[in-house]
Amino acid sequence: MKGIVLAGGSGSRLAPLTNTTSKQLLPVYDKPMVYYPLATLMDLGIKEVLIISTPRDLPNIEALFGDGNQFGLTITYRIQSAPNGIAECFLIADDFIDEPVCLILGDNIFILREELLQLRRFVQEPLDTAAILLCQVQDPERFGVANCDEKGRVVKLEEKPCTPTSNLASVGLYFYPADVLDKARQLKPSARGELEITDLNNIYLQENRLNALRMTESSLWLDAGTPDSLLQASVEVEHEIREHGNPVGYLEVLALRRGLISETSFEALVTSLKPGTPYREKLRQLAFGRDA
Ligand code: TTP
Repeated sequence: MKGIVLAGGSGSRLAPLTNTTSKQLLPVYDKPMVYYPLATLMDLGIKEVLIISTPRDLPNIEALFGDGNQFGLTITYRIQSAPNGIAECFLIADDFIDEPVCLILGDNIFILREELLQLRRFVQEPLDTAAILLCQVQDPERFGVANCDEKGRVVKLEEKPCTPTSNLASVGLYFYPADVLDKARQLKPSARGELEITDLNNIYLQENRLNALRMTESSLWLDAGTPDSLLQASVEVEHEIREHGNPVGYLEVLALRRGLISETSFEALVTSLKPGTPYREKLRQLAFGRDA
């Protein structure tokens, strides 16, 4: 399975922070936001990633990660010329999608626990059904919401409903079989002019090919798209690292743990940072439990 990080959009809710830079390059604790979705893909076992962003921001994201080789990944880049909707990413990815694909939104931060095994299975096994993650939220009207029948089965997904029938929101991590490109080509822009991921998911649902997983309380999902949630994301990430030693978003440590890079290559990444740099200290602590 390949991965797509969608890191464009306008980030208008974070203005003026986003007036001159990308939302996904803003800091979440000690790294740029886009580290986290890339780390999630890596943690799921995905090695080939396409990052999509705006004409203004893509060069900076590319400057950050290059070809991904330092993390044992292959990263390529494509531009979304305007925020025409999340589902447009499949049309942009086009020939990149020659196998199942996992899409993650560039401002979504996941700390996955109980779900991790099952999600890794989607990545490893041939996938013929799509899968989405549902999370209980306080403000479902801001999201794609799951309408469920009396048995709790999802019967329809509704984008930003005025009167939501549940508080189960579809969050920014999705898994699709390779036919997602054909489905995306069938989509028409919605009333707000976007190719909606919810419409795409409804196509799979109608074909009885959508697995809607409810996130467990052991896991955490954060959407860092507003000033308050951006601050909360930093607090939660710092807490997770300090209390649980979980290397959330540390691409270098994840690469080492997953055997994508050697210990020598890891050391080279660490020593490329100035001695005493907090990030350098964290890398060694999280990887080996000792200081830099
Ligand atoms: P949103 O947060 O829904 O939109 P946004 O980033 O433009 O922010 P705002 O509403 O504050 O203006 O987007 C969710 C994620 O998807 C985010 O990482 C940006 C990305 N995205 C794109 O890359 N292209 C798009 O066309 C859209 C709609 C979103």
